[in-house]
This record gives sequence, structure tokens and C-alpha cells, in this order.
Amino acid sequence: MTKEQIRAYIDEIHAARVEHALDKLAEIEMFRVKYLGKKGIVSALFEQFKSLPAEEKREMGQMLNQLKEAARAKIEEFRGLVDTVGEKHDATDCSMPADFSPLGSRHVLSVVMNEITDIFSRIGFTVAESVEIEDDWHLFSALNFPPDHPARDMQDTFFVEKEEGRPEVALRTHTSSVQVRVMENSRPPIRIIAPGRVFRNEAISARAHCIFHQVEALYVDKKVTFADLKQTLLYFAKEMFGEQTQIRLRPSYFPFTEPSAEMDISCNICGGKGCNICKGTGWLEILGCGMVDPNVLSACGIDPAVYSGFALGMGVERMAMLKYQIRDLRLYFENDLRFLRQFESIV
Ligand code: DAH
Repeated sequence: MTKEQIRAYIDEIHAARVEHALDKLAEIEMFRVKYLGKKGIVSALFEQFKSLPAEEKREMGQMLNQLKEAARAKIEEFRGLVDTVGEKHDATDCSMPADFSPLGSRHVLSVVMNEITDIFSRIGFTVAESVEIEDDWHLFSALNFPPDHPARDMQDTFFVEKEEGRPEVALRTHTSSVQVRVMENSRPPIRIIAPGRVFRNEAISARAHCIFHQVEALYVDKKVTFADLKQTLLYFAKEMFGEQTQIRLRPSYFPFTEPSAEMDISCNICGGKGCNICKGTGWLEILGCGMVDPNVLSACGIDPAVYSGFALGMGVERMAMLKYQIRDLRLYFENDLRFLRQFESIV
């Protein structure tokens, strides 16, 4: 037994670490047995100590005590570690709160679009869907647009690059094209609602966007009159904005309806007294509508002498803006969770 030997053991003890989290207790026990066990290093050295010459005993005795103390202190340190981050806590703790997995919710535009569709389905309208890339016939010609109408211009419409031998196509600028598709493919009575995405070549701002959504409705049968249109509109306005809602119709122009009108509802914010949302008028512009132009019926193979119909079309973003007082169109497309979460509770 030499001083160097003992010093080496002391250094070894100081440098010791508990390596594997799951076996911490077992490792600590092995460490204890190695140094302080009955057949451990410390008792072996004390055995040898007995036979040392008397003059060496004092110094060696002190060193052996240091070694014993170092081992004891280290075991204490290891046990402290186990108590705070030890294996009891590494194992599954069934009393811990469960992991929270966040649920998504519907986008406000889907909610409003579904609501409009629902209102019309309660009076017998069924959903019709069609393509978002359309040809000139379904977008414009069949709908009685004159050849020089600005909607046929690149400035207003996104045209898809023309391919050899194929008709020119564009991203649909309105859901009115679905009217044509349905009338070409079915016979009256027709009662459809067409929700969908539309595209226009507009600069993006708080009030305009190049992608937005519309809902179109079409009713064609024998003896459909403007009175049917008006009652349908009143029913829709009351269902959508509340029983107290009033409507008014202003004469307007669309190529595919004659006569045409725009519908306003009494301002649901100020109740018609005048506020900054309705710009002091007490009325909010909601949608375009009219009696299907006989030229459109003919273009779709329906005899205008036998059948008549009404059509209407509205912007979903605008409906949601008015219903939930959203001031900026861009919010719909930014996917900011602080905005989207405000509509979590409406389904
Ligand atoms: N297509 C029109 C637009 O995009 C909206 C519209 C107006 C649709 C009158 C109609 C209608 O069916 O009768 O501005």
C-alpha cells in the first residue's frame, strides 16, 4: 500500500459519474460495494494498514480516512441525483395530465358557404359543382356576354396558356358558368345551388382579391316569375341575417338576366339607422339577381316560350364580412391562427 495508490483511488472517486439513467440505483450500489463493501477497497486497505510500521500509521491513517470519506460523499451525491431526476420519475407516470392534441376547425368561408347552401337546400335546391377552368362558351358566350365585354379581356380574366388544337380556357370568373353546364345537361324543373371558387385578375387589397368564392342559385321551370325570386330572396335574407331583416331591390344590368336587380338588406349592424359599415345609408349591398335571359335558355337548349327562371349570385367573402364584421379580405387567406380561432365555435 502506497500513498500514490490511495491518492489514485481518491481521484477515481472524484471523477466517477452515473452513466445510464435507467440503471442509476444499480450503478450506485455497485460503486458502494466496490469501495465501502465488506470485501471492498477501503476495508482491504484498512486490513493492510494494521501491519504498517508505527511511524507510517499516522499519515496513512489520515489518507485512508480521506478515501473513505470521499467514497461516502460520492454515494451521497449520486443518491441526491436519483431523488430529483431519478428513475422513479423516468418511468411512465399514469397520474400525469394527458397530452393535449389541438383540434382544427372549419374555415369561416366554409362555414358561411355551408350555411348559404343549407338555407337553399331547405327549399328544394340541390348542390351542383363544376370545373374551375372553363371555356369561353360556358363562361361568357352562352351567358349572353357581347363579344367586346371587358370580362373577356386579359386585364380582368386569367387565361390559361393556349394549347395547339384546343379551345381557349380561363380560370372561371364567376359561378354563373355552372348554370350553363347544368341547363345543358338536365331538363326543367331545375333547382340548383352552386358554391365554388372563382378567380379575377385584381390587385390584392383589403377590398379585393384575385381568388374568392361565390354561391350561385338557379331555378328554371314553367311559370317561374319575379315574385318567386323576390320571395326566395326575402326568405334567404331572413334566414341568413335574422328575422328582422328587410330587403330592397334596385334595377341593375347583367348580360345573362333580364330584368336584373341588385339586392340590399337593411344594415344588420345599425338596424337601418345608418352607420359607417352601411356608409350612413342603412342598407348593405348583398347580391345580384334577375330572370334568366331568354337568350341564355335558348343557348342551353331550353325553350324560353315554355320555361322561365331566375338566377342569383353572391360573394361568400362579402357575406362573411357582413355577418362577422371582418374588415379586410386578406385575412381569409393568411391562415393566421389568431383570426381563424375566432370562428372555432361556429360549425
Ligand atoms: N355572376 C355575377 C358576378 O360574378 C353575379 C350574378 C349576378 C349572378 C346576377 C347571377 C345573377 O346569377 O343573376 O358578378
